[in-house]
Amino acid sequence: MSDALLDIRGLSVYFFTPEGIGRAVDAVDLSIAPGETLGLVGESGCGKSVTSLAVVGLVPSPPGRVVAGEVRFLGRDLLQADPETLRRIRGREIGMIFQEPMTALNPVLTIGRQVAEPLVAHLGISRTDALKQAARWLDRVRIPSAQKRLGSYPHELSGGMRQRVMIAMAMICRPRLLVADEPTTALDMTLQRQVLALMGELKAELDTAMLLITHDLGVVAQTAGRVAVMYAGRVVETADVGPLFAGPLHPYTQGLLRSMPLLGAGRGRLHEILGTVPAATDPIRGCPFAGRCPSSFDRCRHEAPAMETVRPERQVSCWLYEDSKQETTG
Ligand SMILES: Nc1ncnc2c1ncn2[C@@H]1O[C@H](COP(=O)(O)OP(=O)(O)O)[C@@H](O)[C@H]1O
Ligand SMILES: [Mg+2]
Repeated sequence: MSDALLDIRGLSVYFFTPEGIGRAVDAVDLSIAPGETLGLVGESGCGKSVTSLAVVGLVPSPPGRVVAGEVRFLGRDLLQADPETLRRIRGREIGMIFQEPMTALNPVLTIGRQVAEPLVAHLGISRTDALKQAARWLDRVRIPSAQKRLGSYPHELSGGMRQRVMIAMAMICRPRLLVADEPTTALDMTLQRQVLALMGELKAELDTAMLLITHDLGVVAQTAGRVAVMYAGRVVETADVGPLFAGPLHPYTQGLLRSMPLLGAGRGRLHEILGTVPAATDPIRGCPFAGRCPSSFDRCRHEAPAMETVRPERQVSCWLYEDSKQETTG
């Protein structure tokens, strides 16, 4: 898609470890249109975080390395960009929010200083003016007595407040894309809902696109427009959020949905997907989900299915849909 804001093609990220080569991300394709929210879901260890790190050029290297692919952002391949260009893009064109704000915030700098920093570093705004804007942003993310909070240190804030500070920092330069990796996982349900609502509000206001990473389908249901389901380093299904929840195609997506507390509750007991995600260093023949799949058959264990469009706007990589393949139109 040429009108995509972010277009990831054939991205592979491997970790070269004493235990062997870990195929953390394996030939992943994803694309995000301007203003769109793409939810990236899957169990822990499926390669979601590594995918997002590759987008912003922060794969820990060594042991990690991007071994193949393109990450086109506004038409330019970020994988080919020099470190200085990437630094300029991060925080300005691409904002980032991570699960644990305590590790992202500097414990010895005031909140005001940190929220103002991107404006000083990227836009050359004076520190005094940047602090004024920081106060407005703290207010905007609903931090009470924002002006006073400028002088607080991260440990003086609650977890929910710290996450709001992270949001203010990520959004203050009005980025085109927000990369949010499990932004609400550390929060309780009520705070989670409030923070997601706030992110939704701000991104609509600024027309920011978002790559929202979560292991929680409830978060996706509340936030995303489109969803990509990841398993063992690969994208196994993509669909709009409505159709995905109404009729998941991939047995893995079906399993994830059945294990969701809210949806599962009405249908009797909660079903877990039996077994575990294979280790990235495990050699995989055939479909990576075959070993846990209730519908697998012989072919699944020997031959890997490709992503195919099987309904309009829906792609899945699963041999069950071999006969539903459609001619792709682009
Ligand atoms: N620093 C690292 N060293 C070695 N392997 C790693 C490292 N970081 C991630 N991996 C591998 O990449 C896989 C995917 O990790 P990750 O993207 O963090 O999963 P997710 O975010 O979906 O939980 C992990 O299972 C692990 O094997
Ligand atoms: Mg992760």
